[in-house]
Amino acid sequence: MSPAATTAPSAEAIVATGLTKSFGEGEARMTAVGGVDFVAHFGEMVFLVGPSGSGKTTFLSMISGILRPDAGTVKVKGQDIWSLGKDALADFRLNTIGFVFQDYHLFPRLTTAENIAIPLILKERDWNQSIAAAVKVLDVVGLKGRGEILPVKLSGGEQQRVAIARAIVGEPEILILDEPTASLDGDTGKMIIAFVKEKVLNAQRCILIVTHDARINEYADRIVHMEDGRITATDGGTE
Ligand SMILES: Nc1ncnc2c1ncn2[C@@H]1O[C@H](COP(=O)(O)OP(=O)(O)O)[C@@H](O)[C@H]1O
Ligand SMILES: [Mg+2]
Repeated sequence: MSPAATTAPSAEAIVATGLTKSFGEGEARMTAVGGVDFVAHFGEMVFLVGPSGSGKTTFLSMISGILRPDAGTVKVKGQDIWSLGKDALADFRLNTIGFVFQDYHLFPRLTTAENIAIPLILKERDWNQSIAAAVKVLDVVGLKGRGEILPVKLSGGEQQRVAIARAIVGEPEILILDEPTASLDGDTGKMIIAFVKEKVLNAQRCILIVTHDARINEYADRIVHMEDGRITATDGGTE
């Protein structure tokens, strides 16, 4: 948590160079991400947009330490993440990056509060304190009082908010969200994006959001367009 305060406002949060990933074998082999260079800074909210299948999720997975690239490097706060061993990478992710998966990835047998508390418990925080922190964040995402129910009792949009709450509860310096507003109504989506944006501006964190949702474009500092596994254009910002 403490490094955020010492990071200069325009410092590089994520630097990807020549990032490449292919899937399949033989004739079925296809390049999902083909040689992408990308930089995101602390203190900015970057949107990544592009058609379905253009490689956005694959790209996010590589820059956040979930999917090993075939080629290229990823530096997060200057650390070459794919040079780390498995345990060191897991620790680095836990301490630095909050990730919201496109399909939520909630644990069905845990309550919503327990799901949200997971990152804190993994950091060996006290169980009761972790649950109390989770319950507070539930309020922030508009699910006050829903901490003790199982995710299956929630709508898709509510599960989305639980996933967002889990990603922000540990106050990570870098927050990565894959289509976070897809199943939210316009007002709720805007409320949540406005909230995470306020967090970035206040704490000089870095937020990267994959989205199709033009309703939230006004919150972006920079919009990066992806097509066929490549970055084709960038709107706004200084680059
Ligand atoms: N695990 C995988 N195995 C095989 N193909 C994959 C896998 N993940 C993604 N792909 C393929 O890579 C391409 C990019 O997918 P993805 O990164 O999910 O795109 P997006 O998030 O922009 O919709 C698609 O053609 C998809 O079918
Ligand atoms: Mg995707």
